[in-house]
Amino acid sequence: MKGIILAGGYGTRLYPITKSISKNILPIYDKPTVYYTIAILMLADIRDILIISTTQDISAYERLLGDGNKLGLNFVYKIQESPCGLADAFIIGEDFIGNDNVALILGDNIIYGETFPDILHEAANLNEGAIIFGYYVDNPKSYGVVEFDKNGKVISLEEKPSAPKSNYAVPGIYFYDNKVIEIAKSVLPSARGEIEITDINKAYLELGQLQVKILNDILWIDTGTYDNLLDVSNFIRSIQREKSLYIGAIEQIAYEKGYINREQLLALAESMSKSGYGAYLKSIVERI
Ligand code: G1P
Repeated sequence: MKGIILAGGYGTRLYPITKSISKNILPIYDKPTVYYTIAILMLADIRDILIISTTQDISAYERLLGDGNKLGLNFVYKIQESPCGLADAFIIGEDFIGNDNVALILGDNIIYGETFPDILHEAANLNEGAIIFGYYVDNPKSYGVVEFDKNGKVISLEEKPSAPKSNYAVPGIYFYDNKVIEIAKSVLPSARGEIEITDINKAYLELGQLQVKILNDILWIDTGTYDNLLDVSNFIRSIQREKSLYIGAIEQIAYEKGYINREQLLALAESMSKSGYGAYLKSIVERI
């Protein structure tokens, strides 16, 4: 399975912070936001990752991440000229996806939970159709919303409904089979002028090929506001202190998955030796 990180858009909800910095480069405590999304794809055993961003910002991702070789990953970069919808990622990414299945994650979605890696594995083993998630929220109007019948069967999906039919929002991580490319090409722009991911999910629902898994005991935060940015930074800091284990440490995950060896991890740690993050990576080698 291939992975796509959509790190486009202008982050206008975070102005002036994001006037000159892409929102997914902003720190969540001690790491750029995009580290957390890469970590999620790595936990799903996805090693080929396309990063989509704007003309202005793409070079920042390339500087940060390079070609991925040092992590045993393959990063590819593409520009989204204008923010015309999440579904556009599959059109931009058509050549990259090739004949594979694909996972899409939004660059500003942080998801954490001890059971999440197992959920990711299951989703990444998808044969046919689509797997998306449902997450209980107080403010469903801001999201894609999924409605279930009393047996838990999905009956509708709506994008930012003014009268939501449930409190289950769809977080920004999606797993699809290869026909998502053709479905994306057939989706028409919505009233806000975007080709909506919700329309793709509706197409799978109509085909009877949509699975929606409820995320319980998992934390999902979209980092699009000042308060969320601060809250999630504090959350990551306190979990890391409590567990002495870092969240979103992509170099550590690469080492644990055997993508890189001890020397390669030490070299990465050495390149950041003046920061607490570098020191942490060094300590991993001694621990395991
Ligand atoms: C997008 C999707 C929405 C989804 C949300 C998750 O919203 O359109 O369905 O629930 O991401 O973060 P947007 O970021 O475009 O407001």
